[in-house]
Amino acid sequence: MVEKTFIMVKPDGLQRALVGDVITRFETKGLKLVALKLLLLDKPTAEHHYSVHAQKEFYKDLIEFITSGPVVAMVWEADNAVYIGRKLTGPTTPNEAPPGTIRGDYCLNTQFNVIHASDTVKNAQREIDIFFRPEEILHYDKSIRHWLGLDGLEPAR
Ligand SMILES: Nc1ncnc2c1ncn2[C@@H]1O[C@H](COP(=O)(O)OP(=O)(O)OP(=O)(O)O)[C@@H](O)[C@H]1O
Ligand SMILES: [Mg+2]
Repeated sequence: MVEKTFIMVKPDGLQRALVGDVITRFETKGLKLVALKLLLLDKPTAEHHYSVHAQKEFYKDLIEFITSGPVVAMVWEADNAVYIGRKLTGPTTPNEAPPGTIRGDYCLNTQFNVIHASDTVKNAQREIDIFFRPEEILHYDKSIRHWLGLDGLEPAR
């Protein structure tokens, strides 16, 4: 089923010049970019986005970190986009993230882990609604669909 996932390059990713690489990985995998913006998160928005972690001991540091510099917020679309986004990103703990994943290739620290990726379809919709107005999500066709084998075929599981 076609899904949207919310992906965000965190302040460390932007400072380390990894924005282009993150976009390239999602693009070349074949997902469709349907929204993108560069922004500096304010504290209320950051707290809303990460509200599920409000009781965790790392919450205060996380909010400070995520508001410490510009981030790049994106929405990517594909069949199974949420699952694919998490796979490309890799596990939260960098030591457990395999080489080939974004966190596996670029991270040493659990907080400074370059990228956020939605973990469920429901959370993806929630996060997209925090960062984008409906009219900022674009609808368009990509001619490469044929060459990705997406026309008239079941998506890979
Ligand atoms: N033990 C920890 N110490 C410090 N920071 C942490 C810790 N656990 C999580 N974080 C930070 O909080 C973020 C949110 O944690 P979560 O458990 O949702 O991981 P995630 O889903 O892999 O990451 P994200 O939601 O950012 O995609 C992590 O990406 C990381 O930046
Ligand atoms: Mg998470």
